Amino acid sequence: MHEAQGVVAALCAPSLSKLTTTTSHSRSNSISMLHASHAPPKHPKWSLQGMTALVTGGTRGIGHAIVEELVGFGARVHTCARNEAELNKCLIQWNDSGFDVTGSVCDVSVPHQREQLMESACSQFQGKLNILINNVGTNIRKPMTELTPAELSTLIDTNLGSTFHICQLAYPLLKASGLASVVFISSVSGFVSLKSMSVQGATKGAINQLTRNLACEWAKDNIRSNAVAPWYIKTSMVEQVIIIFLFIL
Ligand SMILES: NC(=O)c1ccc[n+]([C@@H]2O[C@H](COP(=O)([O-])OP(=O)(O)OC[C@H]3O[C@@H](n4cnc5c(N)ncnc54)[C@H](OP(=O)(O)O)[C@@H]3O)[C@@H](O)[C@H]2O)c1
Repeated sequence: MHEAQGVVAALCAPSLSKLTTTTSHSRSNSISMLHASHAPPKHPKWSLQGMTALVTGGTRGIGHAIVEELVGFGARVHTCARNEAELNKCLIQWNDSGFDVTGSVCDVSVPHQREQLMESACSQFQGKLNILINNVGTNIRKPMTELTPAELSTLIDTNLGSTFHICQLAYPLLKASGLASVVFISSVSGFVSLKSMSVQGATKGAINQLTRNLACEWAKDNIRSNAVAPWYIKTSMVEQVIIIFLFIL
């Protein structure tokens, strides 16, 4: 189990090649599984000054750590979340710290809210986006036979449908930037079986394949595509599971 910051250090590294477990035709395509802390030391010349980034779900957990790491390297960041009060609290803290972060209230599982999110990012960044971090994902832990059709839809819409559509919406902005990178937050569950996570795992497996396909399809536009597949990270999403683990141990 790791703190969210460990994943982010890997995300922001100039090269993910040391962490790569799967590659396809494109050099830019990598899916990384993080089982231990591989965070490379920050290079003083490594900078994201002048870069623009959209991070979905930036108010807690992995997304929050990604926002802070990106602005720490000099990028301008736009983020989103459903909880307006929590988003505003984060924005005030970031702005008080001198970080250039803006945000939109958005439920990424709702198509028209995704469109509004991209319009906000587009006007914020004058139509150019260098970095897209598809971080939002959810989980409903149940044996497969107990998942209702509504729960199946929630998992697929939030984890896969929203990610796919946000990529489509972001494409003109990514292309316009001339140098862009898309990062998907996948999961170890997309590679191996984890208890009561059949559909969540299926959506993450699909994201892995989407990563590979976009790496090939968008390479001509100078848009890289990578996925990071974390193991357990101590965030609000898995707090309850971690408490159960501790009881068992
Ligand atoms: N934590 C782990 O152990 C772990 C392991 C492997 C993979 N991952 C993946 O890492 C990603 C982030 O997970 P996390 O553990 O950092 O989650 P988290 O602590 O629950 O944080 C989720 C963030 O996303 C926002 N969010 C959630 N649903 C949203 C929606 N429908 N629309 C817009 N924003 C939404 C939340 O804010 P609001 O609630 O206000 O919307 C919050 O800012 C997910 O894709 C997850 O599958 C996590």
